[in-house]
Amino acid sequence: MENIDWKNLPFGYYPTDYNLRSTWKDGKWSDLEVSSSEFISVHMAATGLHYGQEAFEGLKAYRGKDGKVRLFRWEDNAIRMRNSAQGVMMAEVPDELFFSAINQAVRLNAKFIPPYGTGSSLYIRPLLFGSGAQVGVKPAKEYMFVVFVSPVGPYFKEGFSPVDVELVRDYDRAAPLGTGHIKVGGNYAASLRPADRAHNDGYSAVLFLDAREKKFIDEAGPANFFGIKNGIYVTPSSRTILPSITNKSLEVIAEDLGLKVERRPVPVEELDTFEEAGACGTAAIISPFRKIVDRQTKKEYNYAEKAGPYSTKLYQTLTAIQFGEMEDTHGWTTVLEGI
Ligand code: PLP
Ligand code: COI
Repeated sequence: MENIDWKNLPFGYYPTDYNLRSTWKDGKWSDLEVSSSEFISVHMAATGLHYGQEAFEGLKAYRGKDGKVRLFRWEDNAIRMRNSAQGVMMAEVPDELFFSAINQAVRLNAKFIPPYGTGSSLYIRPLLFGSGAQVGVKPAKEYMFVVFVSPVGPYFKEGFSPVDVELVRDYDRAAPLGTGHIKVGGNYAASLRPADRAHNDGYSAVLFLDAREKKFIDEAGPANFFGIKNGIYVTPSSRTILPSITNKSLEVIAEDLGLKVERRPVPVEELDTFEEAGACGTAAIISPFRKIVDRQTKKEYNYAEKAGPYSTKLYQTLTAIQFGEMEDTHGWTTVLEGI
C-alpha cells in the first residue's frame, strides 16, 4: 500500500508502476506488453498526432466495503471505444483485449487502489490512436492501444458540493453532424478554451448548447447534464453528446427510486423549472449545480446551496453499488477476484 493522502487526492495524473500496450499491424493485435515506462515512442507522422485519429475511455476500479475490487460496467466502455474507433476509422479493440488490459493494469498496480472509505478510486484510462505514418489525410495502417491507471478523487474539487457552471453560446464542443457522440480527443480540444475562460471567471465547468440552434442543453465539458422536477429525471437527447454510462445508470436508479425518466431535448428556458440540476460522469460522479450563468445574457438559474434530495439519493445509490455497500441487482459490477 502506497503512502498517499487518499482522502485528498485530486483528479489528475499520478504515476503508477505499470501500463499495458498492444499494437495493431497487418490486421491483428499483438500480445499485451507490460511496460514500466511512462513514455511511448511515436512516429512523427503518426495520424494520432496530425489528423486526430485518437480516442480514449475512462472507468474506475473501486475497493469495496467487503475488501473486493470492482469494475463498473466495463463492457459499456469497451463498446464505446469500439464506436469511437469506427467513428474515426481506427482498428477496433476487441472486448477481450480491452478487459485483459484493464484487468492486468489494475492487478499490477493494486497498491495504488485507494482504500475503502476514502471516497477515492483507481481511474483507468484506455487510449487508442493511429500510430502509423501518413501525410495524406487517410487512416493509419497501425494503431496503438495503451491502458494506464491513476488513483483519483472527484473531478470537481468540491466533490459532492454544488458547483457553479457557465453556459456558453460562442463555442461548441462538437458540430451537429460531427463527433460529439464518440469519445475522441478533438471534442476535448474544442472545449479547452471556453473551459479555461470559465475557470478564470470562477466557474467549475462549461455547459454547452446544441451547436445548430443554441436552443437546447447539450452537456458539460466532461459530463452529461440532468435536471429533476415534479418527480421526473430529465436528461437531454442529442446526437452531439457523449452517451454517458453513469447517466444511463442513473436513469435506471431514478426509476428504482420512483422517479419518471425523460430523455428528450431540453430547452434552455426549462432550466428555470428544475428543482435540482447537475452533471454526471465517471470522473464527475454527480456534481450538483448551485447556479448556471448564461455568459451572454447574464441570466442566472439558481438551485439550492446544498445538494437536493434526489441528487443525494442518486449519488448514494450509485456509489453504494460501486463500493459494494448495496446489492448490485442490475449486474453492473465485475469483481476482480484475488486482489
Ligand atoms: N460527457 C463527456 C463529454 C465526457 O467526457 C464524459 C466522461 O467520460 C461523460 C459525459 C460521462 O460519461 P461516463 O458516465 O460514461 O463516464
Ligand atoms: C470521465 O469521466 O471518465 C472522463 O473521461 C471525463 C474527463 C476526464 C474527460
